[in-house]
Amino acid sequence: MELKVMSDSSKSQETASNTKKAGYVDPRYLDENASRDQRIALELRRRYPNAFDLRKKAQKRLPRFAFEYIDGGAGSDGNIKRNWDSLDRIELMPRYGNVVAPPPTNTKLFGVTYNAPIGISPIGGPGTGFPGAERFLARAAQAAGIPYTLGVLSAITIEEAAEIAPDVLWLQIYRFARNDHKIGLDLARRAETAGVKALVLTWDTPVRTTRPREVKAGITNPFRLNMRLKMDAMSSPPWLMSMVRNGIPRFVSIKPYMGGASSLEEAAKFMRTEGGGAFTWEEVKRYRDVFKGRLVVKGILHPEDAKRAVEIGLDGLFVSNHGGRQIEALPASIDAVPAIAREVGNKATIVLDSGVRSGIDVARALAVGADAAFAGKAFLWSLGALGERGPKHMIDVLKAELSSTLGQLGCLSVGELRDVARRHKTAWSQEDFATGKSN
Ligand code: GLV
Repeated sequence: MELKVMSDSSKSQETASNTKKAGYVDPRYLDENASRDQRIALELRRRYPNAFDLRKKAQKRLPRFAFEYIDGGAGSDGNIKRNWDSLDRIELMPRYGNVVAPPPTNTKLFGVTYNAPIGISPIGGPGTGFPGAERFLARAAQAAGIPYTLGVLSAITIEEAAEIAPDVLWLQIYRFARNDHKIGLDLARRAETAGVKALVLTWDTPVRTTRPREVKAGITNPFRLNMRLKMDAMSSPPWLMSMVRNGIPRFVSIKPYMGGASSLEEAAKFMRTEGGGAFTWEEVKRYRDVFKGRLVVKGILHPEDAKRAVEIGLDGLFVSNHGGRQIEALPASIDAVPAIAREVGNKATIVLDSGVRSGIDVARALAVGADAAFAGKAFLWSLGALGERGPKHMIDVLKAELSSTLGQLGCLSVGELRDVARRHKTAWSQEDFATGKSN
């Protein structure tokens, strides 16, 4: 598609030559010469124009336990709602007279150029939500040129993920502290050998919390594929078919450390004995010393923690409340971004995680100080709704929304979002942060 950008400076000349790849497609118009794939993409854009359309469909198609697992949060989902509400309340002020067509969305993170500042968040056990999820997500991310973060509790190995998504793979790991971090450090070694673009240490799960919707749907701790869950699975042909094709989800990345076992039950047991808690600063430092690639922590909300992370040499951080899945009282992740960006924005890459449902959310995140925004639930909804086709569709939607938002706001590139006038009334101020304990 031909995009036009007014070009009275060398900067906009350069932008204009990149725009051919921007890929903005208006779902209302079908090009006569569209290929079969393009027609399918357009049809999906018509039927499921945004993430919530996919969510609705996923709820109908998935077994109840799978939907409740991927969609639910801590308590009464209050933190999930806060993430959404705070994003919704950010207003961005357009300026006109500069852009005449949707601009490109490409961006650089950790030295790698991606096609959009949009990524797939790490998700624990996505195969439980939809069997085969990891392969589908990795393929779609590689094809679209956006980051894919493989969660360590995954049904494909780190090595297989690196084969599918060699240009865009990030890896998330939990804390495995027993035996002097033997497992965690081995995972870091494997990540380096596999050439991941960033290693993400999750520390926003210091304690296990209860998610009532999972409990009500029959998910037990320790996890057991009991009769109720089996019956539930039988009620969902798409989920069942995907399981037949892709096998029962198993946690194969940690299989070598489980004596060759990998079932959901065994992995849950393994996590209880070998995993747990959040990394201490000293432990993070140790990973920094051994891991030569880009190292990132996930789950920072306080600017002092961000500052300390940068001081010990981390390259970036995910501002995250674990998608609202930990404790209802946490701030919305987006509300913590401005203060963190003021503290470390010029020294570290800041990723917003939690609550991202649209390309407009991505634009909001970048406008208030993030370098990229990652989504988890939206991608799981897309899988639940459309199976293998879901992630590509979700990426198409997010990218198109971001591109049209840029155009509407008068930005020629994602970098210009920083200069957009905005109102972000729910943001945490320096004074808000100052009232707490120092660490
Ligand atoms: C795992 O990280 C989860 O939130 O379920």
